[in-house]
Amino acid sequence: MGLFKLSSPTLVGLDIGSDRLKVVELTRTGRTFHLARMASAPSPSSAFRDGVPTAPDEVGAQIRALMDKAGIRTDRVVVGAGGQNVTVREVRVPPMTAQELTAAVRYEAERYLPYNVQDVHMDYQVMGESSEDGRKMLDVIVVATRRDVVQRLVETVEAARLQPVIMDVESFALFRSLVGNGTEARTVVYIDLGAEASDIVITEGKRLRLTRNIPIGGNTLIHALQETLSVDAATAKTMLEERGEILDENIIPDDLTVQRIHDTIAPQIGDLVTEIRRSLDYYQTRARAAVVSQIVLTGGLARLKNLSRVLAAELGVPVETGSPFAGLEVSSATFPPEVLATMGPIMSVAVGLALRGGEEA
Ligand SMILES: Nc1ncnc2c1ncn2[C@@H]1O[C@H](COP(=O)(O)OP(=O)(O)OP(=O)(O)O)[C@@H](O)[C@H]1O
Ligand SMILES: [Mg+2]
Repeated sequence: MGLFKLSSPTLVGLDIGSDRLKVVELTRTGRTFHLARMASAPSPSSAFRDGVPTAPDEVGAQIRALMDKAGIRTDRVVVGAGGQNVTVREVRVPPMTAQELTAAVRYEAERYLPYNVQDVHMDYQVMGESSEDGRKMLDVIVVATRRDVVQRLVETVEAARLQPVIMDVESFALFRSLVGNGTEARTVVYIDLGAEASDIVITEGKRLRLTRNIPIGGNTLIHALQETLSVDAATAKTMLEERGEILDENIIPDDLTVQRIHDTIAPQIGDLVTEIRRSLDYYQTRARAAVVSQIVLTGGLARLKNLSRVLAAELGVPVETGSPFAGLEVSSATFPPEVLATMGPIMSVAVGLALRGGEEA
């Protein structure tokens, strides 16, 4: 035991969501991460387009206010990019040098990217080895993020008088905060249901296997409610959040509005099920033996009443709601269980971003 304790490094993850801004601060002692501070506030939604801030100053000011409210002093933050502006691909290549790999990744990217390679930031990571027809192969994840999107995020963070030290992919952050410590190689699927879009992350044990972004989220349901029930966006949002529910068959609720909300959102939930099923099928045809043993939901839309029951029934897989706090040391005096329960689903990306800071430290 030493004479003094050096102050532990603090790690801040900032999730700039188009519906809510979230921030979390962790401190680290050895291998243990401690939840120090966290806060969330509504985003100025009109200052976003396709999930990306279009008015960095306005969003930046809100982020600054959120940091102050949370009492976070550090200015170094890890931020995430996600949605349709980030393309993630899993490729399998023969063993090669780092230099060859850079060229191969670029070549791959040119084939699948919907835009010019010059317009994106490219990065890749070797996830592990596997064998194909008896030959050793490398599993590589390639990430391409549009440069203009990165630029907009950096401007937003700087407008909050913060320094973006790392930019990570939201789906990777989600994986990092939720993947357990178990050693068993179960196939678990994490789904982050956001406002603009949702991420599907398929994992095997501690390995990330596949990620997909689908353009369905809370906004999809809100737009449907707006049109069908002829209400404005704010009313539709309140309806969804406060009275939204997926009703079991043959159940007729006392409240007619609940029935009308159900009838309006049911087809969109059907689309969501189809998209999830498509990703699972794709994965299962590639990794023949894989049986999905668990689906874990997070994100604001994961709070929709009865959603996990419906997904479990439709997909034939157990579904639970995830919490990013399970792997952290949390003081129950500072963060009572009910706070953790309500904040849990929406904080996964922010926690994963903060943990990424810990990997670099
Ligand atoms: N209780 C609830 N029932 C249904 N939907 C809800 C509930 N609470 C929040 N939502 C919806 O969840 C969405 C917000 O989720 P989240 O905070 O994960 O999004 P975000 O990260 O800001 O968005 P994005 O990542 O797409 O930019 C909104 O569409 C919101 O209306
Ligand atoms: Mg989000």
